[in-house]
Amino acid sequence: MTSPIISIENISKRFGGTRALHQVSFDVMPGEVHAICGENGAGKSTLMKILSGVITDYDGQLFIDGQPVEFRGTRDAESMGISIIHQELNLVEQLSISANIFLGREMRSGWIFRNDRDMHQAASELLRSLDCDIPTTRLAGSLRVGDQQLIEIAKALSIQSRIVVMDEPTSALTESEVERLYRVIAKLRSQGATILYISHKMDEVFDLSDRITVMRDGQFIETLATKETNPREITKLMVGRDIESLDLGPRPERGEKILEVRNLSLAWPGHARGYRLKDISLDLHRGEVLGIAGLMGAGRTELLECLFGASTIPPTGEILLDGDSIMPRHPSEAKRSGLALVTEDRKRLGIFSNMNVGRNLSICAMHEATIGPLLSYSKERTTGDETVEKLKIKTASLEAPIGSLSGGNQQKCIVGRWLLTNPKVLLLDDPTRGVDVGAKAELYRVIRGLCSEGLGVIVTSSELPELLTLSDRIMVLSEGRKTAEFAIADATQEKIMEAATGGWQPAHG
Ligand SMILES: Nc1ncnc2c1ncn2[C@@H]1O[C@H](COP(=O)(O)OP(=O)(O)OP(=O)(O)O)[C@@H](O)[C@H]1O
Ligand SMILES: [Mg+2]
Repeated sequence: MTSPIISIENISKRFGGTRALHQVSFDVMPGEVHAICGENGAGKSTLMKILSGVITDYDGQLFIDGQPVEFRGTRDAESMGISIIHQELNLVEQLSISANIFLGREMRSGWIFRNDRDMHQAASELLRSLDCDIPTTRLAGSLRVGDQQLIEIAKALSIQSRIVVMDEPTSALTESEVERLYRVIAKLRSQGATILYISHKMDEVFDLSDRITVMRDGQFIETLATKETNPREITKLMVGRDIESLDLGPRPERGEKILEVRNLSLAWPGHARGYRLKDISLDLHRGEVLGIAGLMGAGRTELLECLFGASTIPPTGEILLDGDSIMPRHPSEAKRSGLALVTEDRKRLGIFSNMNVGRNLSICAMHEATIGPLLSYSKERTTGDETVEKLKIKTASLEAPIGSLSGGNQQKCIVGRWLLTNPKVLLLDDPTRGVDVGAKAELYRVIRGLCSEGLGVIVTSSELPELLTLSDRIMVLSEGRKTAEFAIADATQEKIMEAATGGWQPAHG
């Protein structure tokens, strides 16, 4: 009998009045990939933070290799070979990629001088092992979320850990990058590493794990051998009841045309290709969901940013909303015209971390909560309560700091905020990133409901099944160009992938 590499015994953790973990106990065996499943707010990240020394005050006992341990910080955990890839990206934006990877463990020549050259070289090798060829001198802040996530992964790998905790490592990765991560995991595993893997994506959990532990409401529910269970059973254990198969009901009637985009292009100065977007045209009708598929770098986010007046340089072409030509130069203009954007980069662009949940919800709809020049707190409160209820946001109260919510619940707040602005067109950039299965279904229902009220929706997603569930039409982008458009009845994963990778050429360094 091998003995466990990690034993978690009766671990409890409170945040003020919130019971994040309650008497959790289970074992992790050496060399296994151990998945942790649970709804948003179940306590997964909190437990992983305890394991990796981020949270140091808790009740209960942690054992590594049978020895009781008490980490005073992440360094202690790292010295025992434990590293974590955080759910919320933690890079220092003003530092280069390699400086981020070796932060706190800088290579030196002699005793004093930092050896930047060796660090860049080592960082480049790490990135190459992840099939990534971004120059390591680039600032972390200039990278898109997906690339930032890769850097987090490289950072964890650089520590040569025996235990790697991955807290939703694929939430911002596209299919091809996920495959790359699978290869990394296979390699780690062949080197004998133990992996704790958190994901809301059942197919990943079942592809990768040997065992699955389910948590619910801060409690341990069960550990099962992956071979002996199935996604349905796990989902049921997660939510504590059978969830009915996802039926969104009939698609709403397609109304008149609300948005028209003609030959939208966005230049890319200094890049060989010269453009980020080239001659994109599309229509959107009331009551309709247009899905946008494409690999990372295809231009999905850029397209939404252009429509919302949020691109770094102005695009060319024409945008018509309700027949009126608009070319928003700033998000506030776009918002006035009736557009709303839920961004993919929650931490940097989405949440106001110094404000509470209620204010985060109402911030874009302040005019709704004002009477004359005065802010009506009671109005703010009622609309806030309604949104929390409608989207089932798990929060202690509207006064709770937004940072105290679990990742998925923060995402729901951002969606809720924009719904309160009563937009004509809602732009959703990967809206269910990190949202659990039950909450996803809720969000889909909310989106469908809005459509039947006459809203038009454009949505991108890194998950094709999601696009296929939600959309009435799917448009495919590849390298900044539109390569296909399918009515939902004709769309299949294969056709979409083909159009998304069509004309694809490996990027030249
Ligand atoms: N710093 C904090 N302050 C207050 N409450 C917190 C804090 N961190 C987490 N919580 C609360 O603890 C509970 C568990 O949160 P945790 O982040 O561990 O959930 P999770 O299972 O990782 O969810 P998700 O799938 O959404 O990432 C939640 O109710 C959350 O609001
Ligand atoms: Mg989490």
